[in-house]
Amino acid sequence: MDKANAKEIMKIREFKIQDYAVVRALWQAAGLILRPGDELEDVKLKLQRDPDLFLVAEQVDEIVGSVIGGWDGRRGWIYHLAVKPEHQRRGVGVGLVREVEKRLVLKGAKKVNAQVYKWNEQSSEFFRAIGYETQPDLMMIGKQLRK
Ligand SMILES: CC(C)(COP(=O)(O)OP(=O)(O)OC[C@H]1O[C@@H](n2cnc3c(N)ncnc32)[C@H](O)[C@@H]1OP(=O)(O)O)[C@@H](O)C(=O)NCCC(=O)NCCS
Repeated sequence: MDKANAKEIMKIREFKIQDYAVVRALWQAAGLILRPGDELEDVKLKLQRDPDLFLVAEQVDEIVGSVIGGWDGRRGWIYHLAVKPEHQRRGVGVGLVREVEKRLVLKGAKKVNAQVYKWNEQSSEFFRAIGYETQPDLMMIGKQLRK
């Protein structure tokens, strides 16, 4: 399938909890590192907060990509963007990001951030190509609050 066709038949919709197993397999197939926060119970917590920012891209009833957006009242966030390897480079990733961006703007967001592992060149190249900038003056810090 060529890129124009792929875009034409791509449908973006909100994630439903029944999609969990398929989306989890997609995260793994795309090489994401799964965390405790990716377990079913934690995903249910996420859905209590921003269900309209957790999206999947479907082509003919097959989930080919997914993204988790977040809105904390100040910034927008993008997590777990993943496209099935055999569907990459057909505009699915950028389609998902643009839809999250649009939804974040409607909530009042002025800026959106994404965290990308330094070794993940595929992801950093992708984000740079779609208008995101690295922020070398910033360092990510974090603390585990519970397992
Ligand atoms: C990163 C990822 C989501 C991109 O999704 P995608 O659907 O393949 O990307 P798109 O087709 O929308 O790409 C849009 C543009 O980004 C750039 N781009 C995408 N992948 C790229 C790559 N591997 N190398 C360089 N540029 C890339 C290109 O400019 C591309 O446009 P073009 O194909 O017309 O040249 C996908 O590669 C993926 O799932 N990777 C594994 C998981 C991952 O690393 N997720 C990010 C976690 S932060």
